[in-house]
Amino acid sequence: MIFRFSVVCMLLVSFGLAFGQVERVTSVDISDTGGKSFKYDIIPRPNHIKAMDGNFLISSNTIILYDGEEAKSVALYLSDYLTVTIGKNLKVSSLPVNKNREGHILITTEGKTIKTDAEDYELVVSPKNIFLKAQSRKGLFYAVQSFLQLMPVEVFSDKEQENVIWSIPCVEIKDAPALSWRGYMLDVSRHFFSKETILRQIDLLALYKINRFHLHLTDDQGWRVEIKKYPKLTEIGAWNILDNGKKQGGFYTQKDLKEIVEYAKEREVMIIPEIDMPGHSLAAVAAYPELSCHGNPVAVMTKAGISADNMCPSNEKVYEFVNDVLKEIVGIFPSPYIHIGGDEAQKSNWMKCPRCTSKAGVTKNSSDKADREKIYALQDEFIGRVKTLVKQHDKIMIGWDEIIENEHIENIEGAIIQSWRSAYPGFRAAEKGHKIILSSGTTFYLDYPNGQRNIERIYNTVVPDKYWKHFFNRENIIGVECPLWTESVSNQREVDYMTWPRMLALAEVGWTDMSYRSYGEFKSRLRENEKRLDLLGVNYQKIDGEKLACQWKPEDTPENEVLEYDITGIIDKPGKWEVAFVYEGGKQGLNTEGFEIVQNNKVIAFCNSQQSLGWRDTSPVNIVNVESVDPNMKQTLRIKLLRDEKLQGESLDGLGSVWFTYK
Ligand code: ACM
Ligand code: ZN
Repeated sequence: MIFRFSVVCMLLVSFGLAFGQVERVTSVDISDTGGKSFKYDIIPRPNHIKAMDGNFLISSNTIILYDGEEAKSVALYLSDYLTVTIGKNLKVSSLPVNKNREGHILITTEGKTIKTDAEDYELVVSPKNIFLKAQSRKGLFYAVQSFLQLMPVEVFSDKEQENVIWSIPCVEIKDAPALSWRGYMLDVSRHFFSKETILRQIDLLALYKINRFHLHLTDDQGWRVEIKKYPKLTEIGAWNILDNGKKQGGFYTQKDLKEIVEYAKEREVMIIPEIDMPGHSLAAVAAYPELSCHGNPVAVMTKAGISADNMCPSNEKVYEFVNDVLKEIVGIFPSPYIHIGGDEAQKSNWMKCPRCTSKAGVTKNSSDKADREKIYALQDEFIGRVKTLVKQHDKIMIGWDEIIENEHIENIEGAIIQSWRSAYPGFRAAEKGHKIILSSGTTFYLDYPNGQRNIERIYNTVVPDKYWKHFFNRENIIGVECPLWTESVSNQREVDYMTWPRMLALAEVGWTDMSYRSYGEFKSRLRENEKRLDLLGVNYQKIDGEKLACQWKPEDTPENEVLEYDITGIIDKPGKWEVAFVYEGGKQGLNTEGFEIVQNNKVIAFCNSQQSLGWRDTSPVNIVNVESVDPNMKQTLRIKLLRDEKLQGESLDGLGSVWFTYK
């Protein structure tokens, strides 16, 4: 797709504005010497960007000059990157950087004291030279990423490009991120992904200034990290025995993980390890059954789901195990954070366990509510003890929002809460002084169907918006993260498809101040960016495939139990169409008996399956075959409602949208 000469040429430049002032300039077409046109389609959009006339041309005489160690390491990274496509090794040289030095790329910390954690940078491209300045390696690295995105897109190829004029449009950028935690999570337990897949993903994340890569290393379906003191974790816990007797799975050695950590560090990405406990721990229990309440042999789970065969919170051996594992984890991952999961711990075995029931002071198998609550409190106690262990290793604990479920905040003082069940547990935690990461399932989970609707939902997450600000201390939101759970994602191509381009929306939410964010404008950069992803070999979801057919709202709920929407023009050719119902809010969701598509009073496609249009897994996607289509005729979508007894005669409060995609 060529959008270079597209209509929305946003010539909103106000050249008179001083650098650093609020300038709403994001995308400006200018001409280069080769008669081509480039836009500043950098993702995430820099916070201050000023268009300038002219271009800088990289020639065989261009040298990358640096001062200081940080600048040197970034200069070498850039030189290696450019060598692949430019085909010649740009010389890298240590020279006192002088802004007036002509014809070169200058990378400098300007002799200032290095602020390791600072992420801000300046990038000035003039016809004379290119100037990248920051007070940290991080800042310089981000300046390089913006610079690469200003170059002709061919720079992202893995082959030498002979016919490209390496021209860079002049610009002044002064940039810093909105949020310090811009994260991606990959579940490597439900499916195992090779070290190479992880390294490649780090490269892609780094290009968009994502700075946290959270590895969900353990779960009921597999333990993926070598722990030398407990070899069975990977001899047994890393493998699924399939019905046909075959073994499937894998794990990373400590050497692999150290390599991953080092590779990520060079790209300013921090690897955050997650060891999920006390729930989601069947793989550990399969290897060491004595960790569970019953101690019986169990097998690593081969299917999706949550096992009740988890760690016994009342067994001292479990704490010894956790501490030993943490000791080795700390030796692999220099991150100041350790994620301990803490989510969805099933309590049914705890209710039967002599140790747990005795500790909680309840009778076995009690159905008494107060007794159940006492058993549930064992989770808080467990998390509190683990928090102490994590602290003894000089690390900060992160947990999913269940770790504050019972509000025993004093147990977990200083812990970071990753809010996933919605944003609200995060709000509560933030009010109580915790730092939080927003990963609300309905918005940020990448295991939802990909597509424009979900890209937009992430993009329009306003942090914070006028509604949320009543709930929490804004400064406690440290960032946002998209998790990709992989129960139904089993290879790199599928990882790509679910991840990209949604992570670009996340990158911009994390980096760009909300006053500069506009989804429509972002989409035009996203289209340009598809060329980058093509050259990088990414199997991304294209943004232009889906069509919004209609939206249902509470006030649509009719007397006759059928919702009817005019969708004329949406189905423009015969064939297979994906019809996706996306629940967007309200308490009740929407249950249906199916739907039909009617063209001039004739049903041209239908689906009779009952569907529950609710949260997460219950946003169904259907494929229908449409044969006779006339886009000029009236088309109607009829959704047949199905109501619970208790909702008979009530008005519904759910809302959502219906999307059609030609397959
Ligand atoms: C989660 O999705 N269980 C964190
Ligand atoms: Zn127990």
